Amino acid sequence: MNTKDKILRMLTNKKGKFVSGEQISEELGISRTAVWKHMLKLKEEGYEIQSINKLGYQLVNSGDIYDCSAIVSKLNTKILGKRIFFFDTIDSTNDELKRMAADGACEGTVVVSKSQTKGKGRRGRLWQSDEDAGIYMSVLLRPELAPEDVQSITLAASSAVCKALQKYVPNKLGIKWPNDILIDNRKVCGILTEMTAEPDKIQAIILGIGLNVWNKQDQFKGELKETATSLVLNTDKELSRSTLVVEILQELEELYLNFIEKGSNAKFMDIWRSFSTTIGRDIIVFQGDNKWQAKALDVLDDGRLLVETPDGHRKTILSGEISIRNYDS
Ligand code: BTN
Repeated sequence: MNTKDKILRMLTNKKGKFVSGEQISEELGISRTAVWKHMLKLKEEGYEIQSINKLGYQLVNSGDIYDCSAIVSKLNTKILGKRIFFFDTIDSTNDELKRMAADGACEGTVVVSKSQTKGKGRRGRLWQSDEDAGIYMSVLLRPELAPEDVQSITLAASSAVCKALQKYVPNKLGIKWPNDILIDNRKVCGILTEMTAEPDKIQAIILGIGLNVWNKQDQFKGELKETATSLVLNTDKELSRSTLVVEILQELEELYLNFIEKGSNAKFMDIWRSFSTTIGRDIIVFQGDNKWQAKALDVLDDGRLLVETPDGHRKTILSGEISIRNYDS
């Protein structure tokens, strides 16, 4: 972390209170003039910093400043985001991170971009990735797990996102199996998990998270106008993309480490089930050209959906698209 980011971190940790120039200069081993110059630079970047003689400096407002420093200065994690690469634009954060992973990037590396030119959704779809509208980020995980456990990581991710978003949209969030995050049945966040693996061992998981933050309804293209939503359309709370990135990474790390270290997925399965809009519903399953009705009974620990067909047979679905009957047609 460079000196400017360290100063920003000190101000952020004490938000609303003054930090003296003397304290900053002593803690960081730099002169008072250097502190003052860094403050000027931060103000130029858009941070509202109040300086009062004898009291020092106070961070009043950081609005939605969205860059690497804004994220790093707030992040309090052990592994996720210890290395962050921040782009103004990129083809796809998943593709960029995949390239980095192939070059040996370490677990916890995160790629964030302000926009994507080829944002990828599930099932070959595009993910609308306008600048200044959403969060587009990918997280590299290298768990010592078998390839079939990858779906659990996806469930942990959707649970973590819901936990992070809950305070912005209380009682409005739902997860549609496997990992579409909805507000009042419109999609606000999607997760694309990609993996490279040997037959019995995962090499890398690229967890891509796309979150609509500032989009206006008419900004969505095509059918998304009817099916998508964003945070700003559903909350009066102050929104900051850097804070949201930090909150998601922190929630994700907690659930991920709990799973890896204790071998238990109970924590995120409980969270996932508590947000599920699928369990207990009549659904239509789309698999290739086939379409059939069922009742969703539960989600199994490995992420498969347990369903019951109208003739009473129980089966599990590993992948596919579902729609919830009498709900989203
Ligand atoms: C879905 O279709 O629901 C998944 C959407 C995932 C979009 C995110 S945005 C960041 C990351 N990079 C991509 O190209 N896709 C994912």
